[in-house]
Amino acid sequence: MRLEIDDLVARIERLREYLTIKSLYWDFDANEFVWLDTRQIPWSEVYVRTRDYRRVAQAIKDMEIRGAPAIGISAAFGMALAAMYSRATSVDALLSDLSQAREVLASTRPTAFNLFWALDRSWAAAKRAAEAEKDADAVRASVLREALTMYVEDVESNVNMGRAGSKVIEDGMRIVTHCNTGSLATAGFGTALGVIRYAWLEGKKIKVYADETRPLLQGARLTVWELKKDGIPVTLLVDGASGLLFRRNMADLAIVGADRITLSGHVANKIGTYNLALAANASGRPFYVAAPTSTVQPVEGEDKIVIEERSPDEVTTVLGRLTITVEGVEAFNPAFDITPPELITGIITEKGIATRPYEKSLREMLGLS
Ligand code: MRU
Repeated sequence: MRLEIDDLVARIERLREYLTIKSLYWDFDANEFVWLDTRQIPWSEVYVRTRDYRRVAQAIKDMEIRGAPAIGISAAFGMALAAMYSRATSVDALLSDLSQAREVLASTRPTAFNLFWALDRSWAAAKRAAEAEKDADAVRASVLREALTMYVEDVESNVNMGRAGSKVIEDGMRIVTHCNTGSLATAGFGTALGVIRYAWLEGKKIKVYADETRPLLQGARLTVWELKKDGIPVTLLVDGASGLLFRRNMADLAIVGADRITLSGHVANKIGTYNLALAANASGRPFYVAAPTSTVQPVEGEDKIVIEERSPDEVTTVLGRLTITVEGVEAFNPAFDITPPELITGIITEKGIATRPYEKSLREMLGLS
């Protein structure tokens, strides 16, 4: 299989200093996809590897891999595995296997737009190679190359987003963030956490308040773990505490990531984000969203956003280990909420900061008429 990736290797080499945590990667020696199981952090750092795209789908579903950009890139590597380990010899048979893999991977988590964006890109790459070269190995190479391209682009976007977003962070600021948007949620570096990291690398003396993020504690387990590794001062909060912080003038700004953004500027993100936006706005504090343009679904309106509902067990227990309520109680577990555009000060992307009206600024950023 011919895989010309010298350009990609050079691009990632330029970003090494930003890749302090390896959340996921392709192992070229074994031809395997490898990821850090985020369910086990902060207790242990366990890398999992596979040649089976179904195992990647399971990892996304079970949230060993989570965070919209990480989900998208992993799905693209899942497609690469499906291509590489398919027994198909003809192009048509290989495309049929890839179409099946695409369906399995797409059925894992419904809200992260990056998942569908990445699968569409993989599929388009496969079709292009099939038409141009009419050779199954060329299709295999093309799907893997596309996954590696998305991986490199994601890290580049994160760093560019960090550079753009750092401009809104002043020296000494106290920043509230929600969920985990760092290396563990992307190909590396992070979106909202990338902005925070970039400001820190520029020498700004900032302090982070991390919402614990019920029910799966991405803030308490993952964000705190990442920030501690970087030496960035962090204080853990219960999700309801940010209102008090803003009111008492203990926090200056909020910044979060996104699972899906529509052209109207509606932002789907981890449950609790909307409450944080309300709290920041009620005290007149800026509320920013940081996400790559691959998170933007080119449609308008919040009704297009599918909100994932997860098992009530995640609410009635702490990480499945301890029941914290009365046996048999009804529990509602939407994984995401929607923050409307009027509460969002700016949407930081790798191309700059979009401001209201988002219909106009996001369209311009995406090159849509
Ligand atoms: O359920 P999760 O942990 O996948 O939710 C993740 C989030 O809500 C993140 O804020 C979002 O995906 C952006 S990650 C850079």
